[in-house]
Amino acid sequence: MSILVGVITVSDRASAGEYQDHGGPAVKKACEERNWQVVAEAVVPDDLDRIQTTIRAFSAQGCGLVLTTGGTGVAPRDVTPEAIRGIMRVEIPGFGESMRMQSLAITPNAILSRSLAALVDTSLVIALPGKPSGAVECLGFVEGAIPHTVKLALGEPTSC
Ligand code: MTE
Repeated sequence: MSILVGVITVSDRASAGEYQDHGGPAVKKACEERNWQVVAEAVVPDDLDRIQTTIRAFSAQGCGLVLTTGGTGVAPRDVTPEAIRGIMRVEIPGFGESMRMQSLAITPNAILSRSLAALVDTSLVIALPGKPSGAVECLGFVEGAIPHTVKLALGEPTSC
């Protein structure tokens, strides 16, 4: 299945140009390795409204899958989960549970990530942690469920 993807890096410092964004490119590469097409990319600050507006714009643009990286932790500016929950129709808790559970085998700090997935408009939105290797690991842990869930998000017929 060909999946159109939007990738959003959520980081105050990367969006201000204070350091280079490595998370977005790592997630993009992981998508391309799966033959998913990255058609939209953005780097936004840890700002609720900017995150929500960008997710909705990418969904309207036809991205069945929107991947965010960053802002899932517990630092004062981390608001990615709140931004997604503010615009979602439903959360799909199994994605977050699976990402955390499998990541815990790699690092105990995985417990700090409030990573999640939700349906927003016609997209599956998955919030991945900000560390590039962690984001790619988490994507790998849930990738098996992504094609089916994207079909559901797009309103396409599915086998169940
Ligand atoms: N998950 C995996 N698989 N690998 C990681 O390296 N890093 C953790 C966690 N999840 C990590 C991970 C760390 S150190 C933090 S602070 C949280 O994700 C939140 O990261 P974020 O605020 O950058 O999203």
